[in-house]
Amino acid sequence: MIYFDHNATTALDERVLEEMLPFLGQLHGNPSGLYRLARVSRSAIETARERIAQLINAQPEHIIFTSGGTEANNLALKSGLIKSHLMTSEIEHPSILESLPESALKKTLIGVGTDGIISFQEISDAADFDFASFMLANNETGAIQDIKKITQLAKNRAALIHTDAVQALGKISIDFQDLGVDLMSISSHKIYGPKGCGALISKHKSLMTALMTGGGQEQGMRAGTENVAAIVGFGKAAELARLELEERQEHSFKLREYLERQLHGIPAIKIFSEFVPRLPNTAQIGIQGCIGEMLLMQLDQQNIAVSSGSACASNEEASSHVLAAMRIDPELAQSAIRVSLGKNNTLEEIDVFVQKLKQIIAKNR
Ligand SMILES: Cc1ncc(COP(=O)(O)O)c(C=O)c1O
Repeated sequence: MIYFDHNATTALDERVLEEMLPFLGQLHGNPSGLYRLARVSRSAIETARERIAQLINAQPEHIIFTSGGTEANNLALKSGLIKSHLMTSEIEHPSILESLPESALKKTLIGVGTDGIISFQEISDAADFDFASFMLANNETGAIQDIKKITQLAKNRAALIHTDAVQALGKISIDFQDLGVDLMSISSHKIYGPKGCGALISKHKSLMTALMTGGGQEQGMRAGTENVAAIVGFGKAAELARLELEERQEHSFKLREYLERQLHGIPAIKIFSEFVPRLPNTAQIGIQGCIGEMLLMQLDQQNIAVSSGSACASNEEASSHVLAAMRIDPELAQSAIRVSLGKNNTLEEIDVFVQKLKQIIAKNR
C-alpha cells in the first residue's frame, strides 16, 4: 500500500513500540504510587517530558500531558486565560474553531490571503485583544505562519498567545522560547508516536483552571491516571524526531519536489500555498474538472491513501473551510486532494502515484 496521508496520522515507529511494550506489560505501576514499581512509571514519564522539551526547546515543567492535540487546544482556550477578547483565524483546526469559550465576550476571526497566510494587517488593526491563538502550520495546505512576528505584536498589547503546533511538530524545527509564545499544543500520533496522547506547553499554569479535576496529576492541570505507555511512546518519538529532523525534512522535500515537478506537467492543476513557506511534506492539489472525494476513492482502489482536505473534517464538510477562507473557487476547492509524505515514502511510490493519478484524471475529466 502507498500511504500518503501522514498529516492525518503516522504509523507507530518500531523503536517507539519497543520502548512502550514494557509499560503495557510488567511495568504497570501507577505513577502516583510510592513503591519501586510505581517510581519506574513516574521516572519514565519524566524522561518523556524531558525528551519532548528538548525537541521544542521548552522547559519540562511547562509540559502538561493530555489525550492529544484536541484536548491541548481545548485546555488552552477553556482554562480561564481569556478575559475578554479572543482572536484566532478562519483556517484553524476544528478543535479550535469549535471550542471558542463563553469567557471570550468578543471573538475575532482573522482572515487569510489567497496564499493561506494569516493577515498580519488584520491582526494589527484589532487593537484590544488579550488572547490570540494561531496555528504554526496548516494541516491542509501546510502553510507556515510567521508566529514570531505575531507574538511580537501580541506582546506589545500585553496579550497571551497560543499556537497549535500539532502539524509543525517533527516536520520543521520548533523553538518554543524563540517563538515567544505562552502556550503551544502538540500531538504524538503525527510524529510516529501512539494515538491518544499529546501535550499543552504552558508558561502560565498557575493562572489556569484544569478541565479535568480529581487526583491532581500533572500538577493539578490534568487529573486522571497517566497513560504511561503512550507518554513513553510520545517521548521516544520526540527524541527520534529531534535526532532525525534534518534527514526527514530533506527526504520529504526531495520527494515533494519530484512529485510537484511531475504534477506541473498535468494541465489545469493548482498547488495551494505553493509560493509561501510550507511544510516540506505537504502538497494540497486542486485538479480542475474532478471531484476530490472521487479521486480519493479511485486512488484507494489502487491501494493509494490520500486525503481530500482535512481527514478529521472530511465526514462532515462538503468542502474545506481552509480553502473557502482562501477564497478559492468552490469548484476548484471541491477537486482538492492532499498528499502528505512521510519518512518511509520513496521516489518509486511517487512514480506509481503520478501514473495512477494521470489515468484517473483522464477518466474523470
Ligand atoms: C492542526 C491540528 N490541530 C489539532 C489536531 C488534533 O490533534 P489530535 O488528533 O491529537 O486530537 C490536528 C489533527 O489532525 C491538527 O491537524
